[in-house]
Amino acid sequence: MAFEIEVQAPSNIAFLKYWGKSDPLTQWPAGNSLSMTLKHAKTVTKASLSDTDKIFFEGIISSDRKIFQALDLLREQTGLKSRITIDTRNTFPKSCGIASSASGMAALSIASLACWTGSRSFEELEKKGFSKTKISHLARLCSGSAGRSLFGGYVEWLKGDTSEQQIIAPKFSADHWPLSNLILIVSNKEKEISSTQAHAAAWSSPLFRPRLAVLQERQSAMLDAIKEKNLEKLGPLLETEALEMHSIIMTASPSVSYLSEETLELVSWIRCERQKGSFKAWFTIDAGPNIHLISEPKDLPNLQASLSKAFPNLTMFQDEVGTGPQIRAL
Ligand code: DP6
Repeated sequence: MAFEIEVQAPSNIAFLKYWGKSDPLTQWPAGNSLSMTLKHAKTVTKASLSDTDKIFFEGIISSDRKIFQALDLLREQTGLKSRITIDTRNTFPKSCGIASSASGMAALSIASLACWTGSRSFEELEKKGFSKTKISHLARLCSGSAGRSLFGGYVEWLKGDTSEQQIIAPKFSADHWPLSNLILIVSNKEKEISSTQAHAAAWSSPLFRPRLAVLQERQSAMLDAIKEKNLEKLGPLLETEALEMHSIIMTASPSVSYLSEETLELVSWIRCERQKGSFKAWFTIDAGPNIHLISEPKDLPNLQASLSKAFPNLTMFQDEVGTGPQIRAL
């Protein structure tokens, strides 16, 4: 029987955003970031060896250049040479602000390395020289946020003093604080300007350097809030972080806006209802129009009921903190 494996890799939602790069070639971020690994939003990728690289997305042959380039990059970085057939699907709509490149590139990196080295588990991969840490750095080269999807819980990516000194590591496990993430799907259309393109413009925003100056302080405050399981402290930091990143995106040159009218309407509604005491939930938004509402699981029924009443046509995807990727031999 031919060797075939299946990898399930989760997406992650950034609390402290990876935005802007100090060096795009080595994927050296301009600042540290911190994310929560998700449980249900994931990419499921099957891989087997073949004569040429073949990529299927939801059973249909794909010519997505980013995936072929990622496979070449992984071979170049590892010296492994085999060609591969990849069959991949997401459990959520592509490019809609749930980070499909994070879960996609994490799944691709794990699946291809497992296949090339004949490994059926993370233990076997580690014995062959590919620890999760090593794979997270390979995944990061394919797409920055993918590096954090190698681990469960709350994950930090530290930029270090040089591009070689970057660290990606879990800070708190998923069971330390089981937070919910209710994703409000404003649009499931693919975005016109990729986050990679928008990252490059960050330095041209007058708000970007001031942001870098306060990042460290915000990161410490977020870590304290997670440690103390204090959502009233974490929530406002999440919102400042998301709004600051989007302000940078909008004031950069070229200027881009990922936020739609509906996003802004939801944002004001959430703030207004929270103030009235209807629920305790705070938002964050990645590079897309969709809103991620972070709350304690006990507040979820109330939150969902209020949203359904006010926005009967709104599509929601319920997620929560997860424990990280899995490998299974087929
Ligand atoms: C807004 O990881 O998609 O989701 O490294 O160029 O592939 P590339 O960028 P990408 O950027 C994601 C940015 C973000 C914030 C975050 O995940 O930290």
